Parts: sequence; C-alpha cells; structure tokens
Amino acid sequence: MKSKLKLLDDKIAEAHLGGGKKRIEAQHKKGKLTARERIHFLMDEGSFEEIGMLVTHRSTEFGLDKEIYLGDGVITGYGTINGRMVYVYAQDFTVFGGSLSESHAEKICRIMDLAMQNGAPVVGLNDSGGARIQEGVVSLGGYADIFYRNTMASGVIPQISAIMGPCAGGAVYSPAITDFIVMVENMSYMFVTGPNVVKTVTHEEVSSEELGGAQTHASKSGVTHFTASNGLDCLDKIKKMLSYMPQNCEDNPPALPYEAADEIRNKLEDVIPTNANQPYDIKEVIEQVADEGTFLEVHKDFAENIVVGFARLAGKSIGIVANQPAHLAGVLDIHASTKAARFVRFCDCFNIPLLVFEDVPGFLPGTDQEWNGIITNGAKLLYAFCEATVPRITVITRKAYGGAYDVMNSKHIGADMNYAWPSAEIAVMGAKGAAEIIFKKEIAEAKDPEAKLKEKEKEYIELFANPYKAAERGYIDEVIPPSVTRKKLIAAFRMLENKVANLPRKKHGNIPL
Ligand code: HXC
Repeated sequence: MKSKLKLLDDKIAEAHLGGGKKRIEAQHKKGKLTARERIHFLMDEGSFEEIGMLVTHRSTEFGLDKEIYLGDGVITGYGTINGRMVYVYAQDFTVFGGSLSESHAEKICRIMDLAMQNGAPVVGLNDSGGARIQEGVVSLGGYADIFYRNTMASGVIPQISAIMGPCAGGAVYSPAITDFIVMVENMSYMFVTGPNVVKTVTHEEVSSEELGGAQTHASKSGVTHFTASNGLDCLDKIKKMLSYMPQNCEDNPPALPYEAADEIRNKLEDVIPTNANQPYDIKEVIEQVADEGTFLEVHKDFAENIVVGFARLAGKSIGIVANQPAHLAGVLDIHASTKAARFVRFCDCFNIPLLVFEDVPGFLPGTDQEWNGIITNGAKLLYAFCEATVPRITVITRKAYGGAYDVMNSKHIGADMNYAWPSAEIAVMGAKGAAEIIFKKEIAEAKDPEAKLKEKEKEYIELFANPYKAAERGYIDEVIPPSVTRKKLIAAFRMLENKVANLPRKKHGNIPL
C-alpha cells in the first residue's frame, strides 16, 4: 500500500505544479496569481474539493503525446464562499497558456452540469490563450459545449466570469452569456479579433489594452460590469456580488439580520435643487435609502445617466435602477436602456425585488440615437420591466416625462407601488415644449411672443408639473415627503414579500434584441 500511496502523492504533487516551476515564476513575474492561488483566495479556507485533477489531453499531433500535464490546464471543483456552495473552474495559464482542449472543456462542462443539478452558482476564472491550437476542431466543439451549458444555465443559477488574463476569439462568448463579468485592470483583455487582425483588416493601429482592456470594456462597450485593480480585488468583488444573490432561481437571496430603528432620513429633504433644471446626484438618495454602505454599483463607468446596482434594505437584497440627473440630465439613451434592461432581467431571474428612482426628462433625441436604434433598444427596458414578476416599487423624485414615465417601472406596466415626492413632475413633456405646441398659434399672434410663451409655460407647469394629477388617477399611490422614503419602502417591500405573479404560458417571449 505504501508504494501505491506514494504514487498517488507523486501524481498530486505533479498536478499541483501545473506547467512547472518556471512557468509559475513567469506568471508571478507578470503580477498574476496562479490558478490554484486564485481558488485558494476565492473559496472558504479548506473547503475546496477538486474534481478531475488527473485528467489529461488525448492529442498526439505536433508532439503533444510527449507533453502531458495532469489537470490539462484547468482546475475544477466545488467548495464554499461565505458558507454557501459554489462550483468553480480556474484556467491555468502555465499549461499550454490555459488553452482549451477537448478534455479541458469536458472538465468545465462537468462542473456546470453538477451546478445545474444541484442548484448552485458557477464562477469561472478565465486566463487562456483560447482554443488549443494543436487540437483543431475538437477544441472548437469544446467551446460550443460550454456555450450551450452557459445558455441552459442562464436564469437557473447565477454565473460569474472573471477575466484574469487573455480571453480572445470565440472564447469571449462564454463570459458574455454569463450574468456578470469582472476584468482585472492592466492584466486582462477580451476581443473577438486581436490588434494584428484589426490592423490587417481595418488598418487601425491599436494596443490590446486599448482594444479590449478592462477600462475599454467598462466604459466604452459595457462588456464588463466591474473592473478590479488586481487579482485579489477581483476575487473579493466576486464574493461581494454573490452575497446579494440566491443559489438558484427557486431560492431567495440571503437576508441579513435587521433591527427596526428610526428610519427617517431628513437629509433627503435637501437633495432636490430649487431650480428643476439643476442636476443632483441620485447616488446620494440611494445611500440615504439603502442600508448603510450596502450599495454595490454595477456598470459604474458605463452609461452613467442610469445607475444600477445591488443594495440591502432592512437586511434584504434589492436591485436598484435609478436615472442619474447628474449625467446628461438622466436622459434615457441606447446604452442606458440596455444596461438597465439586463440588470432588471437578472434581478427578476433570481427573485431580487426592484426599486426604481425616477427622474427622467425623456429619451435622448437625435440622428445618432435614432439610426442606432433607440426604438428597439428603449423597448428592451420596457419589455424587461413589463415581464418582471418580482416585487417592484418606483419613487418619482422629480421628472417623469413622456414615454420614459411609462418605461421607468410605472404601475401601468406592472409595478406594485409608485410613490412620488412633492417635487415630482409627471407629464407628457416638459412645459416649454408643451406650451410651444399647444399654444403655437396664440404665441405667434401675440404682441410679445416670448412673454406669451413664458405665460403659457407657467400655466402648464402649474397644471401638470406636479404629482397630484397622477395621484388623483391612482397612478401614484402616495405622495410622500422625501424624509420618510426609507420607512415607506421597508414597509411596502415587506407587504409584497409573498407576491405571486404569473406570466401567460408560452415557450419564451421575444424580447426586441
Ligand atoms: C496552445 C498555446 C495557446 C493556444 C498560448 N499557448 N496560446 N498553446 N494553444 N491557443 C502556449 C504557448 O505556446 C506557450 O507555450 C504558452 O502557452 C504561453 O504563451 P506565450 O505566447 O509565451 O505567452 P504570452 O507572451 O503571455 O502570450 C499569450 C497569448 C499568446 C497572447 C495568449 O500565447 C497568443 O497569442 N496565443 C494564441 C492565441 C490564439 O490565437 N488563440 C486561438 C484563438 S482562436 P510554452 O510551452 O512556451 O509555455 C480561438 C477560437 C475559439 O480561440 C473559438 C470558439 C468558438
């Protein structure tokens, strides 16, 4: 038995070395952790159980039969994060650059299948040169097997992708299907075709970082939801994200203990500027309403005219969507609509109630927006809200104009409760525009058209730039002083805790993609 145990120990030691000491050193020199180190820092101490440590590739071409590494470039298994079960895979760049072979793909698929059967999240730590070039089509098949599972798992279990090194070619599509992406700054990139191909095809000269680095995808494309300053920060962000999520779509998000306290927030009375055209930071409102220090912003640097993120209210996980008057006056445009729509759908998949703060002057006009499809893209947000069956509450802090009033979680599209602050203005359009249209003739014929316009504008403001017409109709359930917002929301979400809402029977809807 002793010699047999020794053989096992040797194999384990060999697997732990991955592609060997030299390559581990090279990884460290680049400031990167190894795959094993990443798992060590991600999972609760001692909880990780590895599956498939001794798996090897089956290739014989290009001398690969002489180059075999136990584990084949990916570490897979399960364990706990903050006491909750999570399945994980970490690509090992020291083995063939973390490239994906048939066996490597099978290992990832195996833990995805287990995660689905057992209802727990999957976290993927990506660091890979893409398809194992020596393997050819079986590697491509392996990718497709993963994409298929990503899609089947979508909405069933949370899926998180960390990009901690290269992620290029078709490999980008697995992270793209998952729910959230975190990219490590100055260490990772994602692109469909790299700088060399770009140069050949479009004659553009661009670096990897500029083309597909963390900052690029955080601010320009919105591909990544979070950026991290280094590997450890990335792993911490994953842990934080998971703390707001349930294990699967049948489960509820974990709640923290909450003791009732004085929930009045007088500071909120001073947030809205006297001049309705002046900006203010909606994040101040969020900070006051949510449990202290719990707001985790998603997509912070992308489409800043809308703010989305997780928070806790009285200990319970909620998703927040808020127009941001401090950026482009909080207008809804293509990027804001798609950003918010995706977040709303995630929350709805995973039983996370939605809280909306509304201060929106409307949709952004212009050829750029129209030609790039603000109609289709704006419809995504509308569709996402219409379809969401989780508890949904809106607070209109100031402007709720035009179609944007309908879109931003109005009661007409299924919101459960709508509150408005006394500063709310709920109307078809802004007073100036409205007066110019309705009183066009009168203004044109007036001795002093400008004064007439001002007079008519004032008339419109008095009549419509308030929450009371909407409250008379019951579109607004209650007009509340800002200071009681947190208190009202805690009570209302508690009232909605057992909400059951069913969608009509269908195969699936056809969201305007
Ligand atoms: C096999 C690979 C590999 C790959 C890297 N290696 N990528 N082996 N298949 N795809 C190996 C290298 O030979 C090297 O082996 C080790 O990994 C480290 O690579 P280096 O080049 O030394 O590292 P670095 O300088 O950091 O560059 C990393 C890299 C580069 C940028 C990822 O290796 C690279 O460009 N690789 C090829 C990327 C690529 O074209 N992949 C195919 C994309 S197509 P040694 O033995 O020296 O340690 C694709 C299609 C997917 O993925 C489609 C899905 C639908």
